[in-house]
Amino acid sequence: MISVAGIRPASIRSHYQLGTLFYRLLWGPHIHHGLWDADESPYVAQCRLTDTLADLARISTGERLVDIGCGMGGSSIRLAQLRGCSATGVTLSPVQRRWAAVSAGLKGVGERTEFIAADAEQVSFQPGSFDVLWSVECTEHLFDKPAFFRRAIEWLRPGGRVAITVWYEGEDTSRPGHRELCEEVCRRFVCPSLATRADYAGWLKDNGLTVVHDVDWTDRVARTWEICKRRVGRTGVRQLARLIDREQLDFIDGFDALLNAYRTGAMQYGAMVAQKAS
Ligand SMILES: C[S@@+](CC[C@H](N)C(=O)[O-])C[C@H]1O[C@@H](n2cnc3c(N)ncnc32)[C@H](O)[C@@H]1O
Repeated sequence: MISVAGIRPASIRSHYQLGTLFYRLLWGPHIHHGLWDADESPYVAQCRLTDTLADLARISTGERLVDIGCGMGGSSIRLAQLRGCSATGVTLSPVQRRWAAVSAGLKGVGERTEFIAADAEQVSFQPGSFDVLWSVECTEHLFDKPAFFRRAIEWLRPGGRVAITVWYEGEDTSRPGHRELCEEVCRRFVCPSLATRADYAGWLKDNGLTVVHDVDWTDRVARTWEICKRRVGRTGVRQLARLIDREQLDFIDGFDALLNAYRTGAMQYGAMVAQKAS
């Protein structure tokens, strides 16, 4: 696992409090990569990522989800609309909480969703409250990832599933520049650490789960950052970021670091689904 010093929960919260507007302008209501098969639009590719993870996790009508790091509610709302799930979304950002709640109401699933502004490393739920622990691109931001999984797996009923997508540290840690690239990504995207697929699989297995899917999507998602770069070049988003906050500029100028990390194998992107014993 690669860690960097100096990142605090307050800086992650502030990144999303201010950055949500930039994500929405640049990308859309889902704050995660697209998953491409061919030349689909970014929105179609984003929805495919959500739907493919939901298929891998066999999410079905009426299931109860906890969506850790729910952003603007993209996954919770889609799964409530299309699969009849109920969802409890947790985000560090009060701006996102409100945004998600308003969107869910406008999309007719306000009754089946709730959104909480809380730190996933502090929040607690009753044991066995959920069928699925869903988390798309949030665990990179957690400080004590093994402790989070230890606690959160308790919230699942027997037979429940964990469904996550993750920015991983690449597995071949001997590659030249590996550490430097991962550290740059951590600093620019406010992640205290990045861990390998093996680390994540180990934390899930240590808590009695069986990993049923562990897929590498790096090549299918990397286009996200090429599109974001083009969109930044064509619009005034960078100038707006410069006016608002230095950290937003670090993020916007970090797309090349992430692309390099994927191309060189310093990082991977993937999905993992694991099941709790019945
Ligand atoms: C990259 S965004 C992903 C958002 C959402 N999952 C989606 O796919 O649209 C990361 C999310 O993680 C949340 N997050 C980061 N650290 C968190 C923490 N400690 N507790 C709760 N949420 C956190 C952020 O507020 C943000 O909503």
